[in-house]
Amino acid sequence: MWTQKRVVVAVTGGIAAYKTCSLVSKLRQEGAEVKVAMTKNATSFISPECFEALARTKVYVDLWGSAEEIPHISLGQECDLVVVAPATANILAKMAHGIADDLVSTMLLAATAPVVVVPSMNAVMWEHPAVQANLKILADRGVRVVNPDVGNLACGTSGRGRFPELDRIMAEMAKAVTVQSYQGKRVLVTAGPTREYLDPVRFLSNPSTGKMGLAIAKAAWQRGAEVTLILGPCETKVPDYINHVPVVSAEEMLEAVLSHLANTDLLFMTAAVADYRPKCEAAEKIKKTQSDLSTLELTRNPDILLQVKAVRRPEQIIVGFAAETAADLVELAKKKLTAKGLDYIVANRVHKTDKGFSSSVQSEVVILGKDGSYRHYQEINKEELAHSLCDLIATANQL
Ligand code: C5P
Repeated sequence: MWTQKRVVVAVTGGIAAYKTCSLVSKLRQEGAEVKVAMTKNATSFISPECFEALARTKVYVDLWGSAEEIPHISLGQECDLVVVAPATANILAKMAHGIADDLVSTMLLAATAPVVVVPSMNAVMWEHPAVQANLKILADRGVRVVNPDVGNLACGTSGRGRFPELDRIMAEMAKAVTVQSYQGKRVLVTAGPTREYLDPVRFLSNPSTGKMGLAIAKAAWQRGAEVTLILGPCETKVPDYINHVPVVSAEEMLEAVLSHLANTDLLFMTAAVADYRPKCEAAEKIKKTQSDLSTLELTRNPDILLQVKAVRRPEQIIVGFAAETAADLVELAKKKLTAKGLDYIVANRVHKTDKGFSSSVQSEVVILGKDGSYRHYQEINKEELAHSLCDLIATANQL
């Protein structure tokens, strides 16, 4: 995402300035070319040399520099994104009212790149009508505001004002530089395994982690969609900008999918749904005896996609996934595409030990579309696959 993207990080004078070091470091690790501008006040919290070491380039503080460079103009015009982190109440006020009295505020007035602000301050300051009015002016003007978190604040109090988690800042920044092709679309994603209980403490399941579904949920959100993730039991943490519906069994997942379907434009069914469940679930823990437990009677679970096929609207886009161990991936994918009435299918090869289910890399992936779309990857990581799939669907359907 960030490879070769040029990002200007403007640091203003709040205690959270030290957290911006992690942001600069993360951006660099992800391949971005980072330039840092600081206000004089910010340098009281953290030294420019610290950012110089992280960004591996000169840090801009003074409005008055050499004749060859005019940083207050070039910085915000020769980059893909400007992020102000932390953004103090002071810089928000200056931005809202067009005050340009130092390098950072003047650069922001001259910026032509998209701007993201990450306000961080005392909770009383954050709630002050003047700050809120300034934020509204900025938001109406197209500045992307990353609201602060609620939690402990440096001043010893707690409330809303904390510098947000790095992942959320990075996600909001990614959104600010992405074409909003899914704007107005409601996306439903299922992910993770299901659990089919034998008794109160034992169940049948599989090693799905929900990573593929989460990657799709994030990619669709980044493109402007409103996203709901129906997630089976797994460790995956769902960010708060994605609506999270936790479920346990295949039957619960079916119910959740059907109840959201009418309000869905695109369904991505990445969940590894158990095909069978125990015929009866014992009310008490099954006791061990001296003899074998010779039979475990199973019954078929509903096929969620087949039920969706029966009630879907033709304009809805339905995407199925298939994890296969069989040799002919493409043939199998074609059959499933038709049998399940899908618009697209993503088939991948799974093995007992390596890539697939729980890995962040998928080995051999085929995307097939009813519209003739075809993509084949020998190996691809789940994030890249999610972006590729979302873009393919957006292009093919003129989203
Ligand atoms: O037929 P198969 O289970 O291989 O198809 C996989 C696709 O069907 C996946 O998209 C999976 O989420 C979905 N599925 C389903 N209901 C089931 C089992 C799988 O919708 N009971």
